[in-house]
Amino acid sequence: MLLDALTKGMRKTIIAGNWKMNKTPSEATALLEEIKPLVADAKCEVVACVPYVDLGIAIEATRDTNIKIGAQNCHWEESGAYTGEISAAMLKELGVEYVILGHSERRQYFGETDETVNKRTKAALAAGLKPIVCVGEQLWERECNITNEVIARQLKLDLWDVTPEEMANIVIAYEPVWAIGTGKTATADQAEEVCNFIRMCLKTLYGLEIASGVTIQYGGSMNDQNAAELLGKTNVDGGLIGGASLVAEKFAAIVAATKPAEY
Ligand code: PGA
Repeated sequence: MLLDALTKGMRKTIIAGNWKMNKTPSEATALLEEIKPLVADAKCEVVACVPYVDLGIAIEATRDTNIKIGAQNCHWEESGAYTGEISAAMLKELGVEYVILGHSERRQYFGETDETVNKRTKAALAAGLKPIVCVGEQLWERECNITNEVIARQLKLDLWDVTPEEMANIVIAYEPVWAIGTGKTATADQAEEVCNFIRMCLKTLYGLEIASGVTIQYGGSMNDQNAAELLGKTNVDGGLIGGASLVAEKFAAIVAATKPAEY
């Protein structure tokens, strides 16, 4: 436990907004202008993952600030006949730093599989992006008591062939599907239990040193009211925030709820 607490202090805390399919370019500019001063003193990494069409304007709006910009997906091929898709290299050239991959909404509505999440993850890493790889169980899987099996399988498949060196650029987001957009947050203990299990899986796959360094976020109805308790947990190193990231004050309050680990 003490070792866990010590290593928490060494990990990067990352609060990332997942704007999903919200905000036109002009609305995005306005929201970022609101957020900028509120998070200027952040003690953590602050990321806004915006829709593709907002990326350019978001990068301009946050130049010379502490806000990093992320995308919400990328394709695995470098280029070619993939109508409607966006490559990792395109994002990188634009100045994008992070990319959410394998979000449960992509898995649920757009046929995303662990195989395609893995291919996207490899492509993103190769292009120099930092993937935020999302894993999480559905409600019936939790009720059937197979949360750990589901998570272990997703991690193993999604990270297949990701090298130990590349793990330095990977962020894992634990997002229980039943908590996303439902207002039904996992309790801090439930979040910690699974985030701790994720770290154990990473330890099996990559060893203690690498596993101890990976930032693991919690996502699923995290808001300004519950963030401090969730982020206070040893293995919860940040948040992936949907709804609350669209309200500047709420997002800023979550950022402010991050604090250095207590030993
Ligand atoms: P939520 O979304 O905070 O609105 O539940 C989280 C996410 O889907 O990343």
